[in-house]
Amino acid sequence: MDIINKRRSIRKFIDKPVESEKIEKLLIAAMQAPSAKNQQPWEFIVVNNRKILDELSKYSNYANAVLTAPVSIVLVSNIEGLQNPEFWEQDMSAGTENMLLEAVHLGLGAVWLGVNPIQERMDFIKKLFDLPDNIIPFSVVPTGYTERENKFVDRFNKDKIHYNKW
Ligand SMILES: Cc1cc2nc3c(=O)[nH]c(=O)nc-3n(C[C@H](O)[C@H](O)[C@H](O)COP(=O)(O)O)c2cc1C
Repeated sequence: MDIINKRRSIRKFIDKPVESEKIEKLLIAAMQAPSAKNQQPWEFIVVNNRKILDELSKYSNYANAVLTAPVSIVLVSNIEGLQNPEFWEQDMSAGTENMLLEAVHLGLGAVWLGVNPIQERMDFIKKLFDLPDNIIPFSVVPTGYTERENKFVDRFNKDKIHYNKW
């Protein structure tokens, strides 16, 4: 798939809002991800308020992309009542990646910013949004239009492939 090959981490955005239809498509894509026992632990905080974005950018030294993004989506997990609680991080990863791929499809740039399992990052975001105990921050995806294009980088490495034995 072309979008898988083209997807790159984009960390700088131009001053142009992302249409609400496109934001909805990003959320739809995340919710289409596979999850253990189809438990769909994800919930989303869509942040497009500049003041809150600036605050959010302080959750980590590696979150500067939030500063120029017109919108950032905070992916959080509702860990209450999960059928397969051991797998929620993997479910959330699948949702995050789906969102990144949809961003490429929509002509946007985006980047996966790590939150879970780093405790201080999770605590910062929990406090910022006053999250209840059962809601755990997982990742942040800033997105927007960009001057830098998503472009193919060849990472195929046949040394990493093993057939039938190590
Ligand atoms: C779990 C995870 C956490 C990441 N955290 C950050 C981050 O905190 N800040 C950042 O700028 N990029 C982050 N990235 C993006 C990676 O740096 C990026 O995917 C990697 O350098 C490969 O580049 P590419 O996405 O352009 O292929 C993260 C990616 C993953 C999968």
